[in-house]
Amino acid sequence: MDQLANHFKSHIAELNHRVAEIISRENLSGLVIHSGQPHRQFLDDMDYPFKVNPHFKAWLPILDNPHCWLLVNGRDKPQLIFYRPVDFWHKVADLPDAFWTEHVEIKLLTKADKVAELLPSDISQWAYIGEHLDVAEVLGFKTRNPDAVMSYLHYHRASKTQYELCCLRNANEIAVKGHLAAKNAFFNGGSEFEIQQEYLTATNQGENEVPYSNIVALNENAAILHYTKLESVRPESRNSFLIDAGANFFGYASDITRTYAFEKNIFSELIEAMDKMQLEIISMMRPGVKYVDLHIATHQKLAKILVDFDIASGDPQSLVEQGITNVFFPHGLGHMLGLQVHDMGGFLHDERGTHIAAPDAHPFLRCTRTLAANQVLTIEPGLYIIDSLLNELKQDNRKKQVNWQTVDLLRPFGGIRIEDNVIVHADQNENMTRDCGLN
Ligand code: GLY
Ligand code: MN
Ligand code: MN
Repeated sequence: MDQLANHFKSHIAELNHRVAEIISRENLSGLVIHSGQPHRQFLDDMDYPFKVNPHFKAWLPILDNPHCWLLVNGRDKPQLIFYRPVDFWHKVADLPDAFWTEHVEIKLLTKADKVAELLPSDISQWAYIGEHLDVAEVLGFKTRNPDAVMSYLHYHRASKTQYELCCLRNANEIAVKGHLAAKNAFFNGGSEFEIQQEYLTATNQGENEVPYSNIVALNENAAILHYTKLESVRPESRNSFLIDAGANFFGYASDITRTYAFEKNIFSELIEAMDKMQLEIISMMRPGVKYVDLHIATHQKLAKILVDFDIASGDPQSLVEQGITNVFFPHGLGHMLGLQVHDMGGFLHDERGTHIAAPDAHPFLRCTRTLAANQVLTIEPGLYIIDSLLNELKQDNRKKQVNWQTVDLLRPFGGIRIEDNVIVHADQNENMTRDCGLN
């Protein structure tokens, strides 16, 4: 915690520096950043879980308090308008008293609709940054989420401060505890639901606190890329286990995947080959390397694995060119990671917001940036038996290049994904996930 507190001052200084630069370019007085408002469920008197505006939690680790506001102008101490109603129905936020409180000036708001009294009297030159454009309009903001400001902030967000790197390391440390508990639960015969409970207990985080819905998949469910059903029945046979689960630390996310074979067999060997390949790709990360090139290199290495395991035959390069590797690995190599699991800015080429799309042959790739120091990315190659995609391939002469017997043999295992969270430094990579002891 001491290290975090030490780094926090320069984190705020860096955010202030970014704000000063962009508001001067855009002729603004400052930014008013809204934490958000609860969303009511249809025909109900209950709200969905509150998810804070990422631009708000970039400044302060306040994740659970709607109706808060931050006023920043890049020069003065940031002002926090902190919502603290009189309410005997709900838990009211405690008065802030943390390592960060000395870095902001705090005003208390007891009624959400009275915020205008605490905002600058002339807000015509302040930009609203948040989700609730109708609220901003009523308050008289002329500028709401201006493109130039958003692009600038999203572009620079890729470069993490030391405080953010500490938060991301902590998010990895917590998730790794969960992964080790989940692995244990798998080998002890747990159902998907039981494994999930073990994960949440070990991380001490609830379902609404973890950064995304965990994927806890046994056997062929591992082939469903976004499988979030949690089967409570223990399956009759136990072949494989894929878990994609992260943790949250001060609003920063980890995003980690592991795959296990229940016994030693072709699938366990395939996991070993994929693991080796994933580490090779990570070792290729360095400033100046294009993330798209890492994705393409992954396809080339995957093609070799397909041939080595007699899943496909032919020249590896031609398996890539014919789109055969795409059938087994249909998603992107990974993405930027930070305040959001899929952090903003993965396609931004400059601070004006020039967008570089994913290559046509790889439409699901979420990052086309050139790597630079202090970026944080996931590396998550996969190999799955997905029948709907294989059926398409069966329709043309690529069918002959697939060994359908091996495909049948692998189908009950579903698939493999191995995902680590990596910091790119100037002179080395830091694999936060492996450093926390998850192999
Ligand atoms: N867990 C979401 C992802 O890996 O991108
Ligand atoms: Mn993931
Ligand atoms: Mn991911």
